[in-house]
Amino acid sequence: MPLDPLDYRKVIGHFATGVTVVTAAHNGEPYGMTANSVTSVSLTPTLLLVCFMDGSETGIAVRESGWFCVNILDATQVDLSNKFAKQASDFDGVAWHQGEMGVPVLEGGLGHVFCRVDRVVDGGDHEIVIGEVVTCDGTDGDPLLFYEGKYRQIAPLKG
Ligand SMILES: Cc1cc2nc3c(=O)[nH]c(=O)nc-3n(C[C@H](O)[C@H](O)[C@H](O)COP(=O)(O)O)c2cc1C
Repeated sequence: MPLDPLDYRKVIGHFATGVTVVTAAHNGEPYGMTANSVTSVSLTPTLLLVCFMDGSETGIAVRESGWFCVNILDATQVDLSNKFAKQASDFDGVAWHQGEMGVPVLEGGLGHVFCRVDRVVDGGDHEIVIGEVVTCDGTDGDPLLFYEGKYRQIAPLKG
């Protein structure tokens, strides 16, 4: 029996992740996309990857501009995550400033990782963007998590 991609989606949904908004600037416009397919790849050189679904406007902005920022969300930022999970990036009401190369940096959250696009690899119906980390900052707090298609918050281990 061929694999049903929806079965796979259900199974991989048991792999808990954090939640980020990946931002970019292209032709003077800010772009942002909620993403959990963010993985640290290498320390030396310092690389991370993000997978962008084909047609993602933010993915195009990242590829064309060559720069992006991974904004790591905290548990208070569900609304922000939902806002950037829609097509057509809408920064209305969002607290942000222009960082290096004009890339939007969202205020708050647990950290910001600013990257230069190192390479773009074909990944089926996604593009895998590998970025070289240029600068980063972070702070302690409660992360926003995503598990089984729902937002979650960290809880201490039982026992
Ligand atoms: C928690 C969460 C994680 C997501 N992760 C990704 C991701 O890693 N890659 C992706 O392409 N889309 C992801 N999405 C969907 C995008 O946020 C959504 O398709 C968005 O509309 C794309 O915006 P854009 O076309 O303006 O770039 C995620 C959505 C949610 C709610």
